[in-house]
Amino acid sequence: MPRITVTVDGIRHEAEVEPRLLLVHLLRDRLGKTGTPIGCDTSNCGSCTVMLDGLTAKSCSVLAVQADGCDIVTVEGLADGNRWHPMQTAFHEEHALQCGYCTPGMIMAAIDLLKENPDPSDEAIRDGLEGNLCRCTGYCNIVRAVRRGAQAMGETKTGEAKEVTTP
Ligand code: FES
Ligand code: FES
Repeated sequence: MPRITVTVDGIRHEAEVEPRLLLVHLLRDRLGKTGTPIGCDTSNCGSCTVMLDGLTAKSCSVLAVQADGCDIVTVEGLADGNRWHPMQTAFHEEHALQCGYCTPGMIMAAIDLLKENPDPSDEAIRDGLEGNLCRCTGYCNIVRAVRRGAQAMGETKTGEAKEVTTP
C-alpha cells in the first residue's frame, strides 16, 4: 500500500493507505479528526471542508494519496489553545448554527473567502459559501457571523484570537 506523509493541524503523520481511501476517512477514522463531518459523500454539502495547502477542499472529494506531502488544517486546528479563532467566536455569538453539522465546513469556507475579500458584502458572503449547505438556519445568521468574524479578524490583523476565551 502507498505510504504517505501529511501534516494535520500542525502534527506530522505517516500512514499506509489504500489508494481508494478518501482524505475525509483518513482524517476521521485514522487520525481521529472527527471535527470534520461527512454530510453527503457526494461533494455537495461542504461539511467536510478543510484547508489543503492553504486552499479549501472538500475532503470527501480528495484521495488520501493526493494529499501526500500536504499541510492540512481542519476546524480543530483553528483555535489557539483554549481561545477560539475569531470566526468560531462569531458563529457562536451570532447563533449561526442549530445542529452544527455544516458548521466546520462553513467556518473553513468563511475564513477562505476573507483571504480574497476581507470586507465582503452580504452578497459576496453568500456567493463565497455557495458550496456549503445548511439545512437548519436559513443562512441569515451565518451571513451575520461571517460579517462579524471578518470585522474581528480585521481588528486582530492576523486572524488570531486575542480576547475571547472558550466558554
Ligand atoms: S461530505 Fe464532503 S461535500 Fe458533503
Ligand atoms: S446548522 Fe444544521 S446543517 Fe447547518
